[in-house]
Formats: sequence, structure tokens, C-alpha cells
Amino acid sequence: MIKGVKSAPTKASLSAKKASPKSASSNDALMLEKQTPEVSELISNSNQNLVSDSSSESSSTNSHVTVLLDEAVQALAIKPEGIYVDGTFGRGGHSKKILEQLGANGRLIAFDRDLSAIESSKAIADPRFVMVHSHFAGMKAELADMGITKVDGILLDLGISSPQIDEASRGFSFRYDAPLDMRMDQSSGKTAAEFLANTTEQALAEVIKNYGEERFAKQIARAIITERNDGRAITTTGQLTKVVAGAVTRFEPGQNPATRTFQALRIHVNQELEELALTMPQCLALLAPQGRLAVISFHSLEDRIVKQFVRDQANRDDLPSNFPVRASELPQPKLQGIGKTIKPSAKEVKRNPRSRSAVLRVAERTNVA
Ligand SMILES: C[S@@+](CC[C@H](N)C(=O)[O-])C[C@H]1O[C@@H](n2cnc3c(N)ncnc32)[C@H](O)[C@@H]1O
Repeated sequence: MIKGVKSAPTKASLSAKKASPKSASSNDALMLEKQTPEVSELISNSNQNLVSDSSSESSSTNSHVTVLLDEAVQALAIKPEGIYVDGTFGRGGHSKKILEQLGANGRLIAFDRDLSAIESSKAIADPRFVMVHSHFAGMKAELADMGITKVDGILLDLGISSPQIDEASRGFSFRYDAPLDMRMDQSSGKTAAEFLANTTEQALAEVIKNYGEERFAKQIARAIITERNDGRAITTTGQLTKVVAGAVTRFEPGQNPATRTFQALRIHVNQELEELALTMPQCLALLAPQGRLAVISFHSLEDRIVKQFVRDQANRDDLPSNFPVRASELPQPKLQGIGKTIKPSAKEVKRNPRSRSAVLRVAERTNVA
């Protein structure tokens, strides 16, 4: 069952253009170690869980190699009759594994804001499964609509998928020259080109600096706005790549100079960090006691939000140690961190190089109301 599809995906948006075997996709956004050219291309797409790049497997525009598959599903400690949420369906790698572990009365509600992901979910014909076309920050309201107020586990595998990057027309990659779109949900919101057409130089510099951690943010913003003011508005990935290359004088070896700018615009256009910050409290409210939250992040900006939220909910140490209250009167933790962060094994990274910046954090809901 699919819920919430407001507009049918166009044929164009679903067409599977064959990716060049060299195409990398997302990548380890903020990882700054030396990159091979293949891998570095996608640093702008901070997530990386994508199809492996040229070094190992061939990619296609509709495939995605799921990252930390066993680890993330195991972290959910699935109860066969429980209700689970996959907030980032993608191509359903995690969802299918969750369904394998659910019993006849278990349920899985999956979300994605990308219409191609929704389309691919149609391959799962399972009465225990519901697919919702929504951003995950709409999770609590969407579940409430279905009469669900508590769930036993929530998984978020953040960022974008290989198919999103590998389809040139989505405008996520500087590897192709295409319209500068970058929206995960092409049925709503403003494209990156529209943002560039209307923003101020200062606001643009802040986006590039904050979300791309780009030291040449001011110079890049000035170059983009100058082009626009000279009647050459930036509407394609090719134009953007060229303008940024002219403004950046130093960059990591093997990395395209536009890497960080692409990452920043993608995060901004999709409001990725705001989405995550809005969703964390919803997860807390939705999880039943002993319910599990598992989040896979691909760059430090995301991971920081998850880490801080879990820490805030798990700790009671925000009061000075000599504060005159009994321990029993202190607010009790609502979440408990489970284990250390989990990273892909060397074997997984070898098989899927784009997994290498992934970090899985797991937390469990306590009994505290
Ligand atoms: C890394 S992929 C998930 C891959 C998936 N776990 C799999 O194994 O196929 C991330 C997916 O989450 C979706 N996504 C990212 N942010 C989202 C958000 N805020 N709301 C809904 N979907 C989102 C993207 O459209 C993309 O399809």
C-alpha cells in the first residue's frame, strides 16, 4: 500500500539512464583525506551509501548498495509482532530485511520523499508493509493518521541514494551537465537554481560555509552572484561547476573544487539538517519502552545532531553536581545509548567504498514517560 503520493512521477523522472561505469555518486562529504578522483567526485553528496563506484561494482541508475544492512537491522532488535518505521526507504534494502524478521502480525511503515523510491516500493507486495510519500519530519502526523502512536523501532539511513545521484537529470552531480535541481522530492519545493536566482550574496556564502565547510565560501558566493547580475543566472550543474572552479584557489588533492558547494546546496535545498532536528524529538515521542532508534549518518553535520540529541536525552548531568536535589528527583533519562558507534567493516568498505564514512548510532527508549 502506498500512501500520500500527491503527483504521479513523470516518465522522465523515473527513467533509468545508464550511468557511466565511472560514475561515483555520493560520498563522504566531509572526509578530507586524499581521495581518488572516482571517489572524490561524490563528496558533494555526503552520503555515500551508494552503489559502489568504479573500483568494484558496476552501477546502474536504479540500484543502491545498502550500507550497514545487518548491523542496522540487528540494532533494531526486532520483535516479530512489533511496529517498525523505515524513515528512508531508498530502494528498500533495510525495509526488506526488516520484513524478513517480522512475524505475521508485525508492521513496517516506510517513508521517502522521492517519487522514484515510492515507485520502486511497488515491488514489495506485502500486507504488513505501507509506503508513505512524505518527508520523515512528517512521520508523527502520518502515523497518527494511521492510528499509530507508538512504534517499536525507527531506522533512518540519511542522505541520498545512488539512483538519485546517478540520474543526471536530478542535478546532484557535477559529473553530468544537467539542470540544477537537487530536490529529493521533485514534486515540491525550490530547486537549487531557483535558490541561486533569488538569494543574497551573504545568505549564499553562509549556506556554502555552514553546510559545505568551504573556506572559499565568500569568494564562491560573490562569483555566483556576479554571474547572475551580469545576466548569466546559474541554471545548470555545468555552469555552477565552472563558476566555482574559477573562485576556489585551493582544494583537496583529487577533489573537484565544486565538491563542497554541491554538498552545501544539496543540504540547503532539502533542508536536511532541519529535517533531522525536527525528527529526533518525534522519534522519542513515538518509541515505546525498549523501542530502538538506529540512525546512519554520513557526515559530521548530521552525526552531531543525532549524537547531541541522544546525549541530551540520556544524561542527567546538566545540573551542577552540588545542586541540592536528591538523585531520585533528577529528571530520568528517556533514552539510553546502546553500545559504541558502529562503522562498516573493512570488508564492506572494500565491497562498497562509498560506505566508508557511515556511522551508525543506536539508542533505546527507557520506561520514563
Ligand atoms: C541513503 S538512501 C536510503 C537507502 C535505503 N536504506 C536502502 O537500503 O535502499 C536515503 C533515502 O532517504 C530519502 N530521504 C532523505 N531525506 C529524507 C527525508 N527528510 N524525508 C524522507 N525521505 C528522505 C532519500 O530520498 C533517499 O531515497
